[in-house]
Amino acid sequence: MTEVTSPSYIEPSPHLPADMTAQQLQQPNETAVDEGLRLPFPPVTKEHILNCSYHNWHPRYRAVTPKARLVPLPDAFIDYLRADGIVLPPEENTDNPEWSDADSGIFSGGDNEEEDDGHGQQDPSLQWRDTHDAIERTIEELGGKVAPKLNWSAPKDANWIAATNSMECRTPNDIYLLLKASDFVTHDLQQAFDDTDDSGAAPTIQYHLVLRKWIVLNPAVEFRCFVRNRRLIAICQRDLNYFDFLFKMQDKLRQTIQEFFDVRIRDSFPDPNFTFDVYIPPPHGKVWLVDFNPWALRTDPLVFSWLELLTLPEPDEPVSEDSLGEADDDEAEEVFRPEFRLVRRSDPEAYSFTTAQYSAHKLPKDVVDASRGGEGSLREFLQSLAEQQQHENDSGDE
Ligand SMILES: Nc1ncnc2c1ncn2[C@@H]1O[C@H](COP(=O)(O)OP(=O)(O)O)[C@@H](O)[C@H]1O
Ligand SMILES: [Mg+2]
Repeated sequence: MTEVTSPSYIEPSPHLPADMTAQQLQQPNETAVDEGLRLPFPPVTKEHILNCSYHNWHPRYRAVTPKARLVPLPDAFIDYLRADGIVLPPEENTDNPEWSDADSGIFSGGDNEEEDDGHGQQDPSLQWRDTHDAIERTIEELGGKVAPKLNWSAPKDANWIAATNSMECRTPNDIYLLLKASDFVTHDLQQAFDDTDDSGAAPTIQYHLVLRKWIVLNPAVEFRCFVRNRRLIAICQRDLNYFDFLFKMQDKLRQTIQEFFDVRIRDSFPDPNFTFDVYIPPPHGKVWLVDFNPWALRTDPLVFSWLELLTLPEPDEPVSEDSLGEADDDEAEEVFRPEFRLVRRSDPEAYSFTTAQYSAHKLPKDVVDASRGGEGSLREFLQSLAEQQQHENDSGDE
């Protein structure tokens, strides 16, 4: 099998240490600036991380966030997520057929009680039935389709395993499958406080499943905004493809985001340094808040580098109305504008239309290709793999 490599593509994982390596490789000068091989970040504390957890910020920003519900997760459910292997509760309705157990490696507990092999393949949701029921009810309440995430991360790296090849979930099992297959979600569970600078025991995390009413998003109008010392200093696309129409709208978008930041975010977010993600659907007048991320290496700077973001000029103290009134007319204040960077046609990132995002760097090419062909071709692929292995085993015996 061929490994997929895409050297020119900046891996958009917000969390994985590989991100650091990619950045260091791309910006060798950064190492010279910070002798300790560390970028000059202000210390990242566990509090900073907690402030970016959905359940902490959502109550404050509910009015500007697409519809979402939070299901608190008991320890038994977290244990299920952490456990190896993917065992799903039995499907109650059959209009969403499961993959056959034999060739997918994914088991539906309860299907094979008679053949229980001692590995406890019974219904795992028996341990957290109330949570399962709450998830089912919430999906219904949100119109039948949801996008799931944990406190910090959405399982977008696991889209390939879903029958829809996306994060769109219609049943609790769709959600469990994505969460269990996602490295980003595993990071939330195992490494939430990695690389924080304050000492002391990690605080207990109240885990939540965030269920967002599914909306068909246009990735072109998702933006990441960078805030340093409570000043909005930079904005960029989240999706690293080239979108011609954005260039004409850039000034309007910048102004819309700046106003949103000034009114809604600047004085209400608990920290001075952070990033936030927004979605601005047509007619591009209303801003939806999607997420907050810490001002830390784990957050993907996308088309910027962290060194740039740490050193970009920032505006002076916000100018008050009074001083504006007194200002000399011919000494017009130069208005600070955050740097708004779009992907240009000639940027290497602009060619990633054909790349399977997030999964390509991890999976053998055949698996990615098969997953993009839908459930059927993935099943066929796994079947042929099993046959091939069987054949190899057989010939090995001779
Ligand atoms: N309600 C929704 N419906 C469909 N897709 C969504 C919804 N909310 C977010 N998304 C998509 O999921 C992506 C990841 O969500 P986000 O909350 O930013 O998670 P993460 O912090 O892991 O990147 C977004 O960039 C967006 O494309
Ligand atoms: Mg995030």
